[in-house]
Amino acid sequence: MRRICLPVLPLLLFSSAACLFGQSGLSPYAHSLAPYVPSPQNIVDRMLEMANLKPGETLYDLGCGDGRVLITAVQKYHVHAVGVELSDKVYKRALDKIATYGLQNQIKVIHGDLLDVDLSSADVVTIYLMRTSNESLRPRLEKLLKPGARVISHDYAVPGWKPAQVEETDSDSHPHTVYLYIMPPTKANKS
Ligand SMILES: C[S@@+](CC[C@H](N)C(=O)[O-])C[C@H]1O[C@@H](n2cnc3c(N)ncnc32)[C@H](O)[C@@H]1O
Repeated sequence: MRRICLPVLPLLLFSSAACLFGQSGLSPYAHSLAPYVPSPQNIVDRMLEMANLKPGETLYDLGCGDGRVLITAVQKYHVHAVGVELSDKVYKRALDKIATYGLQNQIKVIHGDLLDVDLSSADVVTIYLMRTSNESLRPRLEKLLKPGARVISHDYAVPGWKPAQVEETDSDSHPHTVYLYIMPPTKANKS
């Protein structure tokens, strides 16, 4: 009996984890890349202006918080918007807020890890993470984004990339920086 049970135990543990992963959509290895700190609305507005969105384009907000970037993008620019949010509580908050605006059919929110998401359909990616998180995300952006896609980062640069534009804007007397990057024709976007 013992010979059978010992190898079975890790298998059972693994399959329980896989089962949980399957149910929630979250990888057991997902971890937080930034705390929940919403961008002030005037910074959201500036980020989206710098993104130069056109109707029908697709925007991803990676770590979408309460969905304010997605909601503003859909309302002002008539784009398709996709958010990714790890936190259960914040994910539900985003769904509630999107429903309040009646935008459930125009905005999709993925409850998952932003490092797992396919970004190949994105024209614009917005992020408000941390410098080290941007560093972890960078190889996926370089691999998956199409040439000409724009990446807008609030407050934290993407290490190793050269911004096309950097803007300093105040909100409630606090300075904020917005970085615009444009993916080059080739995959090498390093400075
Ligand atoms: C600083 S907030 C930005 C929220 C929103 N993008 C905005 O600008 O208002 C970062 C968000 O990323 C989420 N987050 C952190 N790590 C994540 C991960 N690995 N995958 C998806 N979301 C994540 C946090 O829960 C939080 O809501």
